[in-house]
Amino acid sequence: MFRTRICDLCGIEYPIFQGGMAWVSDYRLASAVSEAGGLGIIAAGHLTPEEVREQIRKTRERTSKPFGVNIMLMSPFADDIVKVAIEEKVAVVTTGAGNPGKYVKALKEAGIKVVPVVASVALAQRMQREGVDAVIAEGMESGGHIGDITTMALVPQVVDAVDIPVIAAGGIGDARGFLAALMLGAEGVQMGTRFALSKECAVHENWKKLYIKAKDRDTVVTGRSTGHPVRVIKNKLSKKFEQMERQGAPKEEIEKLGVGALKAAAIDGDVEWGSVMAGQIVGLLKEEKTVKEIIEEIIQGAERLLREKCSRFGG
Ligand SMILES: Cc1cc2nc3c(=O)[nH]c(=O)nc-3n(C[C@H](O)[C@H](O)[C@H](O)COP(=O)(O)O)c2cc1C
Repeated sequence: MFRTRICDLCGIEYPIFQGGMAWVSDYRLASAVSEAGGLGIIAAGHLTPEEVREQIRKTRERTSKPFGVNIMLMSPFADDIVKVAIEEKVAVVTTGAGNPGKYVKALKEAGIKVVPVVASVALAQRMQREGVDAVIAEGMESGGHIGDITTMALVPQVVDAVDIPVIAAGGIGDARGFLAALMLGAEGVQMGTRFALSKECAVHENWKKLYIKAKDRDTVVTGRSTGHPVRVIKNKLSKKFEQMERQGAPKEEIEKLGVGALKAAAIDGDVEWGSVMAGQIVGLLKEEKTVKEIIEEIIQGAERLLREKCSRFGG
């Protein structure tokens, strides 16, 4: 029922991407999402090229379905990770934190679909001119690095501005969000926060407990003063960030606070002084579920919802 151009482009059953999440989405989560009919995405984050290759191979041991690699363009290894993605012939490369323009030609020549994350109409149009296959329009409700426009406002504007398919990201956690995104003109969704709270996600138990406890107003954006705003769950680290930003501390000192903080929370479980990235939708999540349950509930729930709304409003 929900087949779109994104399904054909990526060879997937449902138009659902699992967002790349540094230190959070490894081969275990990515393979589970692809097996369940979505597109699983390994986060290259700050891994070395050889570590990324190992992640790709481990994913292949668990699934023969297409999956992707997310490359953070600010990684010092970005050039070599692109080479690994080409050598390993992954199906899709998504990119975050910047403009992947210089890699598009080589990736496309290798038959890899290129899907950058964008937070503005101008960048979406530029990406279309560079020849990417689709864009992920990510609103500021998202977890992790964000722009400054909401998903609700950004997605329809990007949809109107480009011809390539648009995937909506930011604030989507269930069937209602999925359908709403399609109504805005998106042809798929990308979810990060929802999939981070899945059984197959290997993030630390303390992280998952904090996600379950979090309410609607429990996230905050730190790092605006440094030009790298990041949405996280409020904790001792975010308060320290806020305090230093309020006092006008030098940019370098503020940035130093964040070094290693995501790994500290995601791997070591330090959810007080680590960076627990999460989107605003975290308040909706009440329990850990399997990836299969998450995807099935969204697809079946969306079908049911659509039928109900159509009969209610005279469709
Ligand atoms: C813990 C966490 C880490 C993330 N790391 C990355 C990353 O490494 N690269 C990237 O492009 N986006 C990253 N994101 C953004 C997600 O890929 C996705 O676009 C976003 O989570 C969607 O919004 P949602 O959290 O409301 O679902 C991250 C998000 C979270 C929650």
